[in-house]
This record gives sequence, C-alpha cells and structure tokens, in this order.
Amino acid sequence: MKTDIYMTKKNIDKINNSKIWGGRFSSSSNELMEEFNASIQFDKKLYIEDIECSIVHAEMLSNQKIITKKDYTLIKNGLNQIKKEITDNKFVFSIKLEDIHMNIETRLVDIIGEPGKKLHTARSRNDQVATDIKLWLRKRIDEIEIDIKSLQSALIYKAELHYNLLMPGYTHLQVAQPVTFGHHLLAYVEMLGRDRSRLVDCRKRLNELPLGSAALAGTSYPIDRHFVADKLDFDRPTANSMDAVSDRDFAVEFISSASLIAIHLSRLAEELVIWSSDRFNFIKLPENYTTGSSIMPQKRNPDAAELIRAKPGRIFGNLINLMTVLKGLPMTYGKDMQEDKEPIFDTVNSIKLCVINMEGMINGLEPIPKNMLSALQKGFPTATDLADYLVTKLKIPFRDAHRITGEIVLLAEKKDCNLEDLSLKEMQDIIPTIDKSGLAVLKIKNSVASRVSYGGTAPTNVMNAVKEAKKRFLKD
Ligand code: ARG
Repeated sequence: MKTDIYMTKKNIDKINNSKIWGGRFSSSSNELMEEFNASIQFDKKLYIEDIECSIVHAEMLSNQKIITKKDYTLIKNGLNQIKKEITDNKFVFSIKLEDIHMNIETRLVDIIGEPGKKLHTARSRNDQVATDIKLWLRKRIDEIEIDIKSLQSALIYKAELHYNLLMPGYTHLQVAQPVTFGHHLLAYVEMLGRDRSRLVDCRKRLNELPLGSAALAGTSYPIDRHFVADKLDFDRPTANSMDAVSDRDFAVEFISSASLIAIHLSRLAEELVIWSSDRFNFIKLPENYTTGSSIMPQKRNPDAAELIRAKPGRIFGNLINLMTVLKGLPMTYGKDMQEDKEPIFDTVNSIKLCVINMEGMINGLEPIPKNMLSALQKGFPTATDLADYLVTKLKIPFRDAHRITGEIVLLAEKKDCNLEDLSLKEMQDIIPTIDKSGLAVLKIKNSVASRVSYGGTAPTNVMNAVKEAKKRFLKD
C-alpha cells in the first residue's frame, strides 16, 4: 500500500480511533481481523462506479430537498476530485477503512468537511455495493459482447476466404465426411452467437437499480428511486428492498454465461492445438501466439491456445465458488456476499483474455490445404456417398449398400489407395451393375458439392451462410 500523501496526522488518528461505524464500539479492532474483514484490496476496482452512483444519489437528495443544492455541488466536486486522485494513482487506500465505499466517503469528508457526512443519507453500503457491482459488470458485459462480435467477424472473414477449402470432417476424431474449412469455422460463429445472446439476456435481468433499498427495508426519506434509475440507465428500480440487497443472481448468470463461452473457446483452442500438431499439420499458427522451447530449438508451441484450453478451470471454479457462497444464505445481506467480487473480477479478466487472444490467432492462422486434402483422402470420406448412390441409383436397400461399400473400402485399404483411385473393373467385381456415374460420387469435391441441404457444407451453401452470418452478427 502507498504512503498517505493526503492524510494528515490528525486524520490518520481519526481513522485509527473512530471507525465510520465505530459509535457503538468501545475497544479498537485487531489488525488481523481488519485485514480479514476488508475488501479494499480488490473492490477498489469499483471506484468509478461508486462515485458515479454517489453523485447521482446526492443529486436526487438535493432534488428532493433532503440536502441543499450547495451541499450537492460540494459533494459532486469532492467526489470528482477523488476520482482524479484514484485515477492518477495518488489516492491512499486504507485497510482500516474496509472497503471502497468507506475509503471514498472518508476522503470526501476530509476534503469538503461536514457536507460530506450527508452523502450516506437514505442509503446503506448494502444497496450501494449491489449497485456498484451491477454498474461495473454491465459495462464489462457490453465490452465482452463487442469482443465476441469481433472474434465472430474474424471467423466469418476466414470462412469467406476458405469457403471451398476441403478438409476432413471428424466424428470420434476419425475422418468422417469431407467438409470445407469455411463450414467448420462457421460452426463456432453459431456458438458465439448464442453466447452473445446469453450475455444480452443476462444484462436485461441485471438492469434493475438496487439503490434506495437502503440496508434491507427501504427508507423513510422521501427519495426518488425512479430518477436515480433513469440517470444511471437502469430500466427500473428493484421492486423489493430485501431481494435487492441480497440478490447476486446476475453475477451467477454472468459467470455461467462466461463458462459456456470458455467451453466453446476451449474446444476451438483444442482444435488449433490438434491442427497445428506435427501429425496433422493442417494450419500454421501466427508466430506471435506461439513460443519456443528453452531446450528444443525446433519447437513452436501453441501456448496461447493451450492457455485458452485451460481457462475454463478457473472460470468453472469461480462459478462453483459464488454459488456455494450464496447457497443457504438467509435474507438479506451477510458479509459472505463480500466474497462475490473476486470470482466476478477474475471471470471478466479471464474471459476477455481468451476472446481477444483467440481473435488474434484466428486472424493470423494460415491453413495448409495439401495436408488437409491428403488426410482426407486417407480416411475414405466418400464411403457414405457410395452407399447413398447404391440406394438411390441401384435401388439396393441401405443395409446391403452399407455392407457392400464396406467391402470396397476394404479393397482400397488392401491396395493402400484412395477410393477415387479404384478402377471401374475393380468396382464391378463387387457390384456388377455399377457404371461410371458410381465413380463420380467417390470424388471428394463432388461429395462436398452435393451437401446442399440447408445448413450443409456445400461451398455454395457456405458462401450463403457467410452472407447470412454477416447480416445476423456483424450489423451495426
Ligand atoms: N464491502 C462490503 C461488500 O462488499 C460492502 C457492504 C458492507 N455491508 C455491511 N453491512 N457490512 O459486501
């Protein structure tokens, strides 16, 4: 902690000797407990929101004639000065003052004297902290949503570039059917679209103002909660004062939405790790997202992707952490709830890093088409096409067609060649009625081009899907 350049000896004694809530206490508290009880170490992050919320509260108190206009002006100027002190790193936070709310309020009294003591009229730290976190998280949700949108944009433009680049589509991590790289990338655009809508949804439910609920029961002062709600861009004040101070659903919803984002990004990260591995070698990751080994000179490790793959560990941890803190809490506020902040802050920090780094990797990665194609050919990916051909053209029941195709695959395996390389004669030995048109369905390009069902991988579809995705996700 920094040394106090603002606080006089008199003020330090004042803090030490009389806490804001010290009136009914006879002995001074012990240091270990002070440290344990304090949240200033982490809740100082909320200073902008705390000040924003206090200025509007004071304005409302003045409008309602609960304090004078003059006091409001002094409070507002004092708070703005404090904001500058904190931003300029000149403010000295004190553990003895417990949290951001009391650090700021004490400093306000320090700067403007008596009028500063009127700021906390008709409110409590319980409604204040709930409001501060909501304001803070609302901004972060908006930022994360925009970050995800630009990751979607990176994926969509890559998909457009590679709308017809052939690669193996996998099930069980075994070659299944040919798809295009563009189609594969657009799958993640869909996931991220759902993630964005979950964030928007969470923000909607979050957007009710707790301030004015006071400690838990409301207040006898003639306050105007609708004015404060309007000014702080909340949709409405919360309807029940007890619910308002004890609710942290919005934080749980946010971390659970973030958990799904983390799941999606970790899946993509795992694909990047696989695709960039020596065995696959489907893509080249941008160099600045990989690292070298301290001992093996040949290495280029996909560290950024691996970190993204690992981050769900802490994000799920944060979710379980917060849910466990909240479970079984009786109405209304309990100090337990101070433990909400670190999981929220850590989740925001982690998820932002994941999204931003993923965008960088997607922008910079380069596919290696020849390796994608050769992996594809080795996997007999057009076997399903042949079976479908036997059903539609030669009227063979699907079960039999499946077995016959299996025999053809076995032959190609024995000959160590691709299905496309088998001759008509070799095919006819197994299916006497097959003709040249049967050979055409074995061509990978034809297979992909035939997948024209809505949502399928045919390059023409992918082109349309890119257009649609731009409209659905990248507008405004
Ligand atoms: N630092 C506290 C928190 O984060 C602020 C609210 C304190 N309220 C109280 N009644 N002790 O939860």
